[in-house]
Amino acid sequence: MVKINENYLKLPGSYLFSTVAKKLAEFQSANPDKPVIKMSIGDVTRPLVPAVIEAMHKAVDEMSTYEGFRGYGPEQGYDFLREAIAAHDYAPRGITLQPDEIFVSDGAKSDCGNIGDIFGIDNKVAVCDPVYPVYVDTNAMAGRAGDYINEHWSNLIYMPCTAENGFMPEIPKEKADMIYLCFPNNPTGVAATREQLKPWVDYARENGSIILYDSAYEAFITNPDVPHSIYEIEGAREAAIEFRSFSKTAGFTGTRCAYTVIPHELKVNGTELNSMWNRRQCTKFNGVPYIIQRAAEAVYSPEGQAQTKESVAYYLNNAKIIRKALSGAGLTVYGGENAPYIWAKAPDGLGSWEFFDKILNEAAVGTTPGAGFGPSGEGYVRLTAFSTKENTEAAMERIKAIL
Ligand code: MLT
Repeated sequence: MVKINENYLKLPGSYLFSTVAKKLAEFQSANPDKPVIKMSIGDVTRPLVPAVIEAMHKAVDEMSTYEGFRGYGPEQGYDFLREAIAAHDYAPRGITLQPDEIFVSDGAKSDCGNIGDIFGIDNKVAVCDPVYPVYVDTNAMAGRAGDYINEHWSNLIYMPCTAENGFMPEIPKEKADMIYLCFPNNPTGVAATREQLKPWVDYARENGSIILYDSAYEAFITNPDVPHSIYEIEGAREAAIEFRSFSKTAGFTGTRCAYTVIPHELKVNGTELNSMWNRRQCTKFNGVPYIIQRAAEAVYSPEGQAQTKESVAYYLNNAKIIRKALSGAGLTVYGGENAPYIWAKAPDGLGSWEFFDKILNEAAVGTTPGAGFGPSGEGYVRLTAFSTKENTEAAMERIKAIL
């Protein structure tokens, strides 16, 4: 008889954002007269910028001709996009990447999950707590997380990120092989400086560990001390894989385009992780559509840069509105200055889900309960700055009224 991957049976509940979406939908159908404002999943609301749309149209037209038509593209991404990424996202920060160190994909979420394919099951995995649930759930699916007991996975190393430590993880006492770091952080919205990242790179090099660095939110960095890439830290090319995305930077959540960087120096017992990932991608992935890659390339044109920067500034302004409103209403808030996420402490000792329910039921605003991101997220909710300005302001008025 066929056997299933029993690790799936250990997973608690559904995926966090599906659970939240279901709760919002239930509330909405029970209360059709109270339109819910969603500040839950980090999904953008502004349309794709004109430079991107123009490039997409052009690529669609190319596909309609014999000369311009493309079938299967390179699994790793077209050179035009890999070169543009190296030239615009890395070279100006003093980082030299070869285009073949960049793998274009359909999402940082998929890559963060799929990267586990190239690592052994018996690696010890360290995650921040709270954390983007994809890192935890995909390791649980692979069998690396152990058993789920009392809201903790028995084989994971949890690195608590709390108000007391400024939401910065401490190097774990137990030796970690795979270390997931995400800065600017999802969910707390806190960003790590160069000084704060350096010890992690040193640790990974000394211990033969790999840092899986998710910098999907780098476009929101405003503080010059905060690095946009882990490769700004000396030695990181031998210690880290970096995940980036066009989703939040350029509104591609529905369009799907991202990339993963694996420098050639990154080796385990002489084997390059770059060639392993290349082998994995060639076998399991057929590349991002040409039209989408042309659209992503247009993000780097002068017009694309100006237009996408304007969108990022718009969302950062929403973050400011949220911070101001919630702190004005007496809540303690974090994040939102170098990130599109605001991490708010629930008042009066309320638990995350209780505060989530209160905001949903009394204000018709959707948030994400902090406990869904890990045990140390208990007592917080996360709000995103990705709504429209009008909805952000309306949501803040509603929340202020119930506090
Ligand atoms: C989030 O809300 O944390 C993210 O948008 C989810 C994602 O990017 O997959």
